[in-house]
Amino acid sequence: MTGVEVRDATDGDWPGIARLTATSFGSHWHPETFAAWRTLMPTGSTVVVADGEDVVGMAHYLDFTLTVPGGALVPAAGLTWVGVAPTHRRRGLLRAMFAELHDRIAGAGYPFAVLTASEGGIYGRFGYGAATTETTLVVDRRFARLHADLPDPGGVRLVDPRENRDRLAEVYDRYRRHTPGGLERPLPLWDDLLADWPDSRGGSTAWFCLLHPDGYALYRSHGRPRSVRVEEFTAVTPQAHVALWRALAGLDLVETVTVRSHPADPLPYLFDDARVVRTTHAEDELWVRIMDVPAALQARTYAADLDVVIGVDDGFRSDGGIFALTVRDGHATCVPTDAPAEITMSLDVLGSLYLGLHSARTLAAASRIRGGSAEQLAGLDAAFGVDVAARLGFHF
Ligand SMILES: CC(C)(COP(=O)(O)OP(=O)(O)OC[C@H]1O[C@@H](n2cnc3c(N)ncnc32)[C@H](O)[C@@H]1OP(=O)(O)O)[C@@H](O)C(=O)NCCC(=O)NCCS
Repeated sequence: MTGVEVRDATDGDWPGIARLTATSFGSHWHPETFAAWRTLMPTGSTVVVADGEDVVGMAHYLDFTLTVPGGALVPAAGLTWVGVAPTHRRRGLLRAMFAELHDRIAGAGYPFAVLTASEGGIYGRFGYGAATTETTLVVDRRFARLHADLPDPGGVRLVDPRENRDRLAEVYDRYRRHTPGGLERPLPLWDDLLADWPDSRGGSTAWFCLLHPDGYALYRSHGRPRSVRVEEFTAVTPQAHVALWRALAGLDLVETVTVRSHPADPLPYLFDDARVVRTTHAEDELWVRIMDVPAALQARTYAADLDVVIGVDDGFRSDGGIFALTVRDGHATCVPTDAPAEITMSLDVLGSLYLGLHSARTLAAASRIRGGSAEQLAGLDAAFGVDVAARLGFHF
């Protein structure tokens, strides 16, 4: 790491940042896209590595609001555009930038840092745990017969998405406020999404939009025979979910409808034959790093009482420790303690448990949680259970 400097970004660095973003992720971003995302970057949220006049590393965070179980809206630093030039990889630049950036995130008082990962093997060492799962579901529409008990709530319209930006944003906002993992999405990001740059369509059509008062589907169509890919499906109510799927199932001439979804999606149960819905892919989606264990554990609600002393190892910074966690009537107190830990885990594992998707018993079976009786592990699962399944708000 000699001859390079880790520092704040200056205005003059942005052409280099744009070039490094394009090199890292394989596509050139529009200046308008950069401008939209930069509205979410507070002063001091960009760290670069400079080699002479070249930007050879970059890491940024966005000022986000994260929904946690129970519906509290909590500040979170959303890490994004993390990249190191292929000329400078595997010599510690990412680690150096992360050390600096996480000092800043802790200094700004964020209880969480969150990210979505390009590869699954990078971020555990930095205390991030995969907390939500994205699935890809493919519906063979030709054989998809809706179940006879399914209501026909109606209310879906075909609309121009840009003209309906505020309606889409309003529906999304209701959805993200009650969904753990939900993220506030400011209007500049809506404008960027709906700008629908032709080179961001992956060879498919421009957006089509189905709008319901409590939900929407944004999709693209491609190929012959035709297939449809729903990039964003948001339903605040089960009625909206059914109504939107009735419309998608009605897309005659389309063979398959593919949707980015989540493990608790009721979609297969809508059809006579659940096999018309295949899960073709499942992978980590939102990664959570808890920056302040007591603040984070006290921010969410719980489904059962609990008394446990947890040891949390942070191999990256010193945000771990031993904590007494007590839950009564859904609310937690969490304080550092000198008592011996009954259950021990690394910080990334606590991040994986936090939104209620992953099970303590399963993680213990993989030796990712140590100690604790079967009853204590079952008690952790009961307490961390959630009413509303966690799901990432939107990709960033
Ligand atoms: C991922 C990337 C940022 C890593 O940068 P880097 O400077 O080479 O990383 P470092 O040398 O600082 O490595 C830090 C640690 O992460 C590990 N690591 C780095 N890249 C890794 C990868 N792709 N998979 C698994 N581990 C990785 C290193 O082995 C090292 O481990 P250690 O410190 O525990 O020994 C860089 O390869 C890159 O820009 N990739 C393309 C863009 C991308 O995927 N960005 C991430 C977006 S989420």
